[in-house]
Amino acid sequence: MEDAAVPALKLAARDTPVPIGEVSMHAAVARPTGLPELDRVLDGGLVPGSVTLLAGEPGMGKSTLLLQALGRMAERGARCLLVTAEESSAQVRMRAERLGALAPNLLVVSETSLPHVVAYVESVQPDVLALDSIQTVLDPDLPGAPGSVTQVRDCAYRLVQQAKERELATVLVGHVTKEGTLAGPRVLEHIVDTVLAFDGDRGHALRMLHALKHRFGSTHELGLFEMTEHGLDDVPDASSRFLVDRRAGAPGSAVAVVLEGTRPLLVEVQALVVPDCVPPRRSAAGIDPARLAMVLAVLDQHGGVSTAKAEVYASVAGGLRVTETGADLALALAVGSARRKQPVVAGTVAVGEIGLGGELRAVAQLDRRLDEAARLGFTYALAPPSARPRPGLQVIPVHDVSEALARGLG
Ligand code: TYD
Ligand code: MG
Repeated sequence: MEDAAVPALKLAARDTPVPIGEVSMHAAVARPTGLPELDRVLDGGLVPGSVTLLAGEPGMGKSTLLLQALGRMAERGARCLLVTAEESSAQVRMRAERLGALAPNLLVVSETSLPHVVAYVESVQPDVLALDSIQTVLDPDLPGAPGSVTQVRDCAYRLVQQAKERELATVLVGHVTKEGTLAGPRVLEHIVDTVLAFDGDRGHALRMLHALKHRFGSTHELGLFEMTEHGLDDVPDASSRFLVDRRAGAPGSAVAVVLEGTRPLLVEVQALVVPDCVPPRRSAAGIDPARLAMVLAVLDQHGGVSTAKAEVYASVAGGLRVTETGADLALALAVGSARRKQPVVAGTVAVGEIGLGGELRAVAQLDRRLDEAARLGFTYALAPPSARPRPGLQVIPVHDVSEALARGLG
């Protein structure tokens, strides 16, 4: 029997492949949200047709951030639709009042059924749709309870389709537990264009916003907010915010200048060394444990600081996670300072990556980091030999860890 011929598919004009140089670039123009820290992380704002997942633990402030952003966009003329599937419209209104987000262009509806959400979009024709949260909507045609993997994934998929068809900027709120195991953000990562993680320390007002995935820009920028009684505010002097609780002059404390995206931040690296402990435990908070192990090994082999039989705790104060090697030198200084019970010389910052031979290496944008340290009133900077002199700061070039310990501990 002969095979039936495959019928040729009828293609729409927009489906025709074109030479790459002729592809239109006008599509992805971001709409600023009007919240500078959010726009910094989004690299400009929300792109029409994009779907952004705002993920975080319950109580972090996701609904607050969303409402503030929608209020601002609505004030600037965007038609915004907020579908609240957790709170009543009255609750949202009360919060909006407190946040100053009572813009006439911001429409609110309390709804948990996905087909209704789609129908509201059809009738309201918004520029921006926000759904709080993806775990509480339900498609009655699908199996499973709200929040189950099937419901979350399929509802999100439907909303992504809608976003693309209508060029509708869409924001979905998603809850995560500390372990990140709850159905939701994990299963959604591949479906959405952008994943924003909102987190912070419950006991503190500081909130941090990162892009874990972003199809329309970089994922390097950190957004910083402070939770106040009238919502989330920008942090006034962000680069020094992580130093507020520092007790200068105490052994085991050193200041690093790290780069979060384009912004230099000064952070306190702390270490506690308890000698003669078997087994020699290590604990790292805000620092990669593998990086801590490496720095301890280098200190042992090249710095004359042994922690082989000691408990070592290292942390970055303020809940920031340091992911770059520019903080190596401050970590080494903090450990050396704790082990020798000698404080770091007052007014000192330390910048640089440490190599396996104990040598100090340059890191990106050294000048900008040192300028920021000078601006915040630091006097000395221990830095790799390639560092250039900076006005207002005494740059001390150091070649290796033992030289850094000799110059940096007072
Ligand atoms: P919320 O946005 O409801 O968190 P999420 O949506 O992530 O669960 O806000 C969390 C907390 O923030 C809430 O418990 C109270 C506090 N908060 C303020 O401190 N100030 C404010 O203006 C608002 C709206 C909330
Ligand atoms: Mg909420």
